[in-house]
Amino acid sequence: MSAGNDSGVLGEKVAIVTGAGSGIGRATALEMARNGASVCVADISEEKAKETVDLIRKEVRGCEVEPFKVDVSSEDEVQMLISFAAVRFGRIDILFNNAGIYEWFSIEDISTETWDRILNTNLGGAFYCTKNSIPHLIKTRGVIVNTSSALGLQGSTESVAYCASKSAIIGLTRASAMDLAKYGIRVNCIAPGSVETSMVERDFAHFGDAEKARKAYNELYPMGRIAKPEEIAKLVVFLASDAASFITGATHVIDGGISAQWAEGLAPKINVR
Ligand SMILES: NC(=O)c1ccc[n+]([C@@H]2O[C@H](COP(=O)([O-])OP(=O)(O)OC[C@H]3O[C@@H](n4cnc5c(N)ncnc54)[C@H](O)[C@@H]3O)[C@@H](O)[C@H]2O)c1
Repeated sequence: MSAGNDSGVLGEKVAIVTGAGSGIGRATALEMARNGASVCVADISEEKAKETVDLIRKEVRGCEVEPFKVDVSSEDEVQMLISFAAVRFGRIDILFNNAGIYEWFSIEDISTETWDRILNTNLGGAFYCTKNSIPHLIKTRGVIVNTSSALGLQGSTESVAYCASKSAIIGLTRASAMDLAKYGIRVNCIAPGSVETSMVERDFAHFGDAEKARKAYNELYPMGRIAKPEEIAKLVVFLASDAASFITGATHVIDGGISAQWAEGLAPKINVR
């Protein structure tokens, strides 16, 4: 089978997107396809992966896209994913390590089982996918983009395993960028603030009154709102494209300015005039 189409900044490239059944992964798979890539839509939910594929086929005529059910925390399953993509599309140019889970636990409350599950998914998944795709990426001088988070750069209550995994993604990105630069392979990560996806919907619900929580989240951001998944997708497509040919080992913050402000906008809160 031939790969991709020749139009767009990712023309003729083949991408694997993990966690592509929803949110950031789905929006990115679609944006990659719009930009000419063939896409392997990988997710632990076969149903959601198929929904993404249907969405892409409806919008991007002639795009080569396939769903694949994978639990990225299992190296055996990841090996099957990489083999499937390489055989089905003939090459692998882009790996977007995006699958991730979030659970609310403090360092006092988290169990070892939960810690292992979150670390194995968020960090282990990126490690297994990266390691097993290297022989393919060497051939194409490919690109890896990892999904870290604002919580990879800053702490937050009841988020210990998530914060640890997302900080480690930054380390994985930097170190693998150093190891793989000699092959012309670039490795970057993105650090989004809050994004309108099912993950954040669950956060809203966690606070009891989901509507009030949604409003509070939006107001926390200097731009008055959280991100849309499509906005994150455009950054990933740029990093995966040849336009980013000298960018590697870097963490790309995309957070509507929230990390640029001092103490989460403390000044308005202590304005007693
Ligand atoms: N939404 C945010 O505010 C936000 C902010 C920063 C970073 N992130 C990160 O972005 C990534 C995508 O999150 P999202 O917000 O789109 O969430 P989401 O829940 O909408 O999508 C995550 C997808 O990953 C899949 N998935 C979960 N475990 C998996 C596994 N073991 N193997 C394969 N697929 C698996 C889910 O089925 C789902 O389709 C995650 O890594 C998340 O940590 C999200």
